Amino acid sequence: MHTSDLPLRIVIVGHVDHGKSTLVGRFLHDTGALADGKFEAIQISCQRRGVPFEWAFLMDALQAERDQNITIDVSQIAFKTAAGRPGVLIDAPGHKEFLKNMITGAARADAALLLIAANEGVREQSRRHGYLLSLLGLKQVAVVVNKMDLVNYDPEVFRAIEQEYRDFLFAFGVEPRVFIPISAREGANVATRSAAMPWYTGPTISEVLDVFTPPVSEADSPLRFPIQDVYRFDARRILAGRIESGTLRVGDELTFSPFNKTATVASIEHWPERTGNGNGVPESAAAGESIGITLTEQIFVERGHVASHMADAPIESNRVKASVFWLGRKDMTLGGTYKLKLSTQELECQVASIERVIDASTLAAPEGRNGAGGADDGKIRSVSRNDVAELTLQMRKPLVLDNHDRVAPLGRFVLVDGHEVSGGGIVFGGVYTDRRAVVSQNLTWNDGTLKSSDRARRNGHKGAVVWLTGLSGAGKSTIANALERELFGRQYHSYVLDGDNVRYGLNSNLGFSPDDRIENIRRVAEVARLMADGGFVTVTAFISPYRTDRRRAREVALEGGCEFIEVYVNTSLEVCEKRDPKSLYKKARAGEIKQFTGIDAPYEAPDDPEIIVQTERQTVEESVAAILEQLLPRLSVESEPQNLS
Ligand code: ADX
Repeated sequence: MHTSDLPLRIVIVGHVDHGKSTLVGRFLHDTGALADGKFEAIQISCQRRGVPFEWAFLMDALQAERDQNITIDVSQIAFKTAAGRPGVLIDAPGHKEFLKNMITGAARADAALLLIAANEGVREQSRRHGYLLSLLGLKQVAVVVNKMDLVNYDPEVFRAIEQEYRDFLFAFGVEPRVFIPISAREGANVATRSAAMPWYTGPTISEVLDVFTPPVSEADSPLRFPIQDVYRFDARRILAGRIESGTLRVGDELTFSPFNKTATVASIEHWPERTGNGNGVPESAAAGESIGITLTEQIFVERGHVASHMADAPIESNRVKASVFWLGRKDMTLGGTYKLKLSTQELECQVASIERVIDASTLAAPEGRNGAGGADDGKIRSVSRNDVAELTLQMRKPLVLDNHDRVAPLGRFVLVDGHEVSGGGIVFGGVYTDRRAVVSQNLTWNDGTLKSSDRARRNGHKGAVVWLTGLSGAGKSTIANALERELFGRQYHSYVLDGDNVRYGLNSNLGFSPDDRIENIRRVAEVARLMADGGFVTVTAFISPYRTDRRRAREVALEGGCEFIEVYVNTSLEVCEKRDPKSLYKKARAGEIKQFTGIDAPYEAPDDPEIIVQTERQTVEESVAAILEQLLPRLSVESEPQNLS
């Protein structure tokens, strides 16, 4: 697929009464995009009913056709730009439908026309739409000031609107290509230049569409092939789905996330059969194509799994940082649970924390949202309709995702409250980890005859990994030991893996260079996962200074179906140095120990751990209690089973 072949997909958004339907009807008519006779048929029907002709009726007629086909909430109408380039006009009935379709990818736009009525000016909804477009990464925008006929084509009215809206959009980095004064009803500056506005020398609507850059093909992006369905045909198993980005070839080794299983593509079957490109079985398929594939090995794959190449794999996590646009009737609440849909995945998620909320029409923090409900802990507890929030979502199972700016289709999701789509979001701040291929060949994981669920039932609790991270001297070992004792007292099977101890044995060949630390944590992550699978509540106490390694430890645990709880033992460097239990800081300062964490080696503090303990303010008992509060419910045998495989 060539870049220039891709039609420019354009959406028109604006306040309900600002003349969207009229503009769409007029635009399609004036650019010759309507089917023959459609316009005349509506004219005749108006005459027959004795009502004056309205351009919006064209949209009603198209709407009626659309109702026949309700798989997506928008109509998509093909047209040609002034220069003859292909375009698709996406019409969503409201901004909720628009958001849903943008986010699910059902009808993604490359550019937008933001519509404002000259006689009404910039409204709340105009501002919200602008913000929403920027949130979705849609930066190609032209602003259309409609109904100029109602203000006598006055350039001052136009300029005042331009100034106000330009300033608003500028605040979050959107710079419209152009502001166009039009009258959709009169056809002024739609496809033909208006004599009534000689003071305007910029492009008409149909000209501006040639100014926008057509979409770039995503065939060169990392491969993401989310599985929609698995079909059986004869003896073959066909994995069907749509390639969201990248290119897939016969013979490629694919990694299926979550769980990191790998297999090789045996064949590509088009679905439905690709037509018109000659015969023969295709050797490759790229972004945008719906295909089926078969694999050379039989591995467990189901709907929701995502295939990629090992070297460029997505993120697997049960904790996600995102910007969410909330449209729900009911407020979104801290601790509330929602259904999250991301490509073909559907998971329950919980709002773990809300970092920031802004009202999308004023860009201000809404009043009275912090510490509501009597609590005065500074936490934001709710997000109202039309607010945008930065927040952290927590899931019980791993989700496969990307940062929105890296692979957009896997970086956006919708949130469903009850049965209603109530918000959309984009992922940011996720940490990519290197899923190094297993060096040995011909390995098969032996699942054994006992499952971790059998052990959990016998033990009366599930295994888990509690991952403590923090500077040397922060108190990790002290808290880990106290936690183990407390768990032991409550009849839990528990074990501490401690930095110094593990370095005596298993990791005695490793020092403190960055590579050795990475290997140290990699081994510990694997051991912790095995122990958790064996039924232990495994508490690890390692500096684990790199975010990526801790993220990988989480992935390893989740792939093994184990709970993972990251605890940041937050003690400042000053206090650690004052405590200096092993006099190591003194030696490091004296240059006797090199690459000492915090002195001449880095520590990357977690930015979204499940738990933060502040040892400078909390006693050891309080820290342990804070961990237990989150940990114990997750160990319950009754809680939802973890392992998807
Ligand atoms: S990690 O960085 O690889 O996670 P780990 O937790 O295993 O470190 O080991 C840290 C412990 O090793 C410290 O508590 C300290 O007792 C000891 N140590 C010795 N040299 C260093 C060093 N250069 N940096 C950090 N810790 C060191």
